[in-house]
Amino acid sequence: MYSKLVLAASVLIPTFSSAQQLLRDPGVGGPPLEIVHLYNDQWPTGITVSRSGRKFSNYPAGLDSNNTNTGSNNKYQVAELTGNSTETPYPNVSINNPPGGAVNYTTTPPTGANYQTHLIGVQSVVLDARDRLWILDTGRAQLPDGTLVLATYGGPKLVGVDITSNTIIETIVFPPTVAFPDSYLNDVRFDLRASVSASGQGVAYITDSSSEGRNGIIIVDLGSGESWRHLDSIPEVRAERGFVPYVWGQPLYYIPGPGQPLTTVPLGSDGIALSADGADLFFGPVGGRGLFSISTQRLRDRSAMSEVLAQAGVVYRGQRGVSDGFETDSNGYVYAGNMEQNAIGFYNPANGSMGVWVRDPRISWVDTMSVASDGYLYFTDNQLAFSRSFYPGTDRRQRPFVLFKVKLPGNGTRVSLV
Ligand SMILES: *[C@@H]1O[C@H](CO)[C@@H](O)[C@H](O)[C@H]1NC(C)=O
Ligand SMILES: *[C@@H]1O[C@H](CO)[C@@H](O)[C@H](O)[C@H]1NC(C)=O
Ligand SMILES: *[C@@H]1O[C@H](CO)[C@@H](O)[C@H](O)[C@H]1NC(C)=O
Ligand SMILES: *[C@@H]1O[C@H](CO)[C@@H](O)[C@H](O)[C@H]1NC(C)=O
Ligand SMILES: *[C@@H]1O[C@H](CO)[C@@H](O)[C@H](O)[C@H]1NC(C)=O
Ligand SMILES: *[C@@H]1O[C@H](CO)[C@@H](O)[C@H](O)[C@H]1NC(C)=O
Repeated sequence: MYSKLVLAASVLIPTFSSAQQLLRDPGVGGPPLEIVHLYNDQWPTGITVSRSGRKFSNYPAGLDSNNTNTGSNNKYQVAELTGNSTETPYPNVSINNPPGGAVNYTTTPPTGANYQTHLIGVQSVVLDARDRLWILDTGRAQLPDGTLVLATYGGPKLVGVDITSNTIIETIVFPPTVAFPDSYLNDVRFDLRASVSASGQGVAYITDSSSEGRNGIIIVDLGSGESWRHLDSIPEVRAERGFVPYVWGQPLYYIPGPGQPLTTVPLGSDGIALSADGADLFFGPVGGRGLFSISTQRLRDRSAMSEVLAQAGVVYRGQRGVSDGFETDSNGYVYAGNMEQNAIGFYNPANGSMGVWVRDPRISWVDTMSVASDGYLYFTDNQLAFSRSFYPGTDRRQRPFVLFKVKLPGNGTRVSLV
């Protein structure tokens, strides 16, 4: 009976076997991705591109124990991309080699080393509008078993580098009341306009994405070095309870450390971008799909009612998808990865909607984006979702990791708030 039916079908409806004629997801869309750099050595997150086209990346010890400097393995936290697949420790080798390594094993349990003069665990590198390179050090590193050690004073800092002389010009160390031992300083944006700070030297805005949950936004006066927090632990900066994102068809559950029970994705406010006019700061957690903003004036305010006013000023802009870093261009668009769609999307504040800009099956994890003066958006894809921090806990990443670039729409280019 069964074989007779199949026979009948094949005779009467021959096109049944032509499944390729059914409508299907094309999987690609938008302008093409161009490969700029292949990372065959350490595992990267950040990318930033200077006016002259120099490129810098970072390789956080806090997310990959193979990036942790042991004092003798020469692992680096920041590098300049010196060829299509070669990297040189930056600004020099010694800054990337804390004496004795990134972890202080004389404490119980081990902690992040307290060097103000060396890099411990760098989560992002960003060039400001004057083309100074800022290195954001979490002060935290992973042990070989995957334990993320707590930071100690001196580790969490913002380090400014003059890329002409390749020397450090400023080091802002965060007090433990601003960068808690379990904070995870994630990403940073700059506004150098004189009017926005008491010192006249501009401000930085930083996300604290800590998987331990004390999330918030940190504000820094670049002239005085003073820093403070706002939006501490409000729902909009935290991961949503029960949040399960999907990458390449796989649900992501998180492994907080060796032997610990799985959780849903606990990563808080991570992506950050200023509106093109500097008036609003956009942010969103990895553990959620929401896009939020707040007036930057509310963040800079430190008066008695400033936290109450800041919390009242958070705006929900809708759903962006699952993303890591954000970026802005001169069109005013705010770009964000949309990992569940193998895509990068953008929010247009002018019409309040999200669009999908590019799709490509090579996209798994859009970590960091950087709009450059050449009219391209550069972004790293580092397969973060396949690392051992996610179920089943084996390292499924495959080298090379990649830096792509894509031509921006409408002749978009870098925004300079100066
Ligand atoms: C670190 O590198 C070693 C040697 O290449 C590899 O076996 C191991 O899986 C890596 N660990 C992680 C967490 O990537
Ligand atoms: C890097 O790639 C570009 C574009 O494919 C190519 O023109 C250039 O020769 C390459 N440079 C090196 C050093 O391989
Ligand atoms: C390691 O910890 C000890 C004890 O707190 C402290 O005295 C020492 O300065 C620390 N060293 C580094 C490099 O962090
Ligand atoms: C590395 O850079 C630091 C800060 O700019 C400088 O003090 C130090 O002398 C440099 N070290 C080497 C070996 O170039
Ligand atoms: C909003 O603006 C963008 C950019 O012009 C456009 O691509 C998008 O389609 C608009 N959204 C809607 C819903 O019209
Ligand atoms: C982009 O620039 C080109 C060359 O200057 C110009 O012809 C074109 O009209 C511009 N496009 C937009 C959308 O502004």
